[in-house]
Amino acid sequence: MSKMLEEIREQPATLERTLQAERKPIQDLRGLLERHQPRLIMLAARGTSDNAAQFGRYLLEITTGIPVTLAAPSIFTLYNAPFRFDGVLVVGISQSGESTDTNLVVERAREQGARTIGITNEPNSALARIAEHVFLVHAGREQSVAATKTYTGQVLMLYLLAYALGANIELDDVARVPEWASRALELEPEIARRAERYRFMERAIVVGRGLNYATAFEFALKLMETCYVVAERFSSADLLHGPIAMVEASFPAFLFAPAGVTWPGLREMIEKLMQLQAETLLITDAGNREALEFKERAVAVPVPLDELFTPIPYIIPAQLFAACLAGQKGLNPDQPRMLSKITRTL
Ligand code: F6R
Repeated sequence: MSKMLEEIREQPATLERTLQAERKPIQDLRGLLERHQPRLIMLAARGTSDNAAQFGRYLLEITTGIPVTLAAPSIFTLYNAPFRFDGVLVVGISQSGESTDTNLVVERAREQGARTIGITNEPNSALARIAEHVFLVHAGREQSVAATKTYTGQVLMLYLLAYALGANIELDDVARVPEWASRALELEPEIARRAERYRFMERAIVVGRGLNYATAFEFALKLMETCYVVAERFSSADLLHGPIAMVEASFPAFLFAPAGVTWPGLREMIEKLMQLQAETLLITDAGNREALEFKERAVAVPVPLDELFTPIPYIIPAQLFAACLAGQKGLNPDQPRMLSKITRTL
């Protein structure tokens, strides 16, 4: 069995560990931030961690009203641009804590007086030394090059960060995330069966909106790096502004479809894709009755979920899909070609 699959299965335990360990430090941070609210939050990350940051952008803007931007590292690493960091909270997110450019953004920001936070899986990493406040994802060693348990750990930390910034999020709800992750893992046999049908897939689109836009990015990244599928990711709104033209009969389309504000638009999109006879698959949950009406086209996490808490339970079937499909294609998802665990870029 691949390490990737083993690590996907560890997630309820790793999430629980992270919650237990970081609950108290987050309460302390909340006390501090109450007195020093930032006017802007900048998230710095690469790859999978950047997808977690993308989720963080939506979560923090929706729940705190503070504008959030994703750092463009070259502004600092190549252009060396002077930047006014007053009132900015800079959050570096990196599983290894060794991504050169992410660290450089945090370092510059701290030198120039910004409050800085590091979220990492490695307590002895450079990021843990550079950032003023450090929060650890207690995922244990991640051996697969394709990150899974560190991604969900980072997403979990972002709920805690939103809480620390005064969001109206109940820690008791966040505490249920490991249980929802465990319910999502029950889908493994169904996903393994469904993935077989996609053995010869070479291209696909992945669609998500709002809080699950990042889930679409992360699923597409997993399909690209472990299955070598050319996977484009879109919000359901952007797909309509041109790219829908490439969809034809049998074109694989994956959509993340929670109940809530994003559902009416997604529903229209699904109906359009079905008219085009695209090979459409939704990832949803037991709470979205209308999505369940798409029957064989829907994979449902077997528990009703509030949209706010769907990104972790929804990425788990997607991770399982990528790990199973890689196996069925005869690929080793733990060692994608050209990749190693730490990528250093400037
Ligand atoms: C993909 C993956 C990479 C990393 C990226 C950043 O599964 O793991 O995209 O997320 O290289 O690495 P870190 O998070 O260590 O900064």
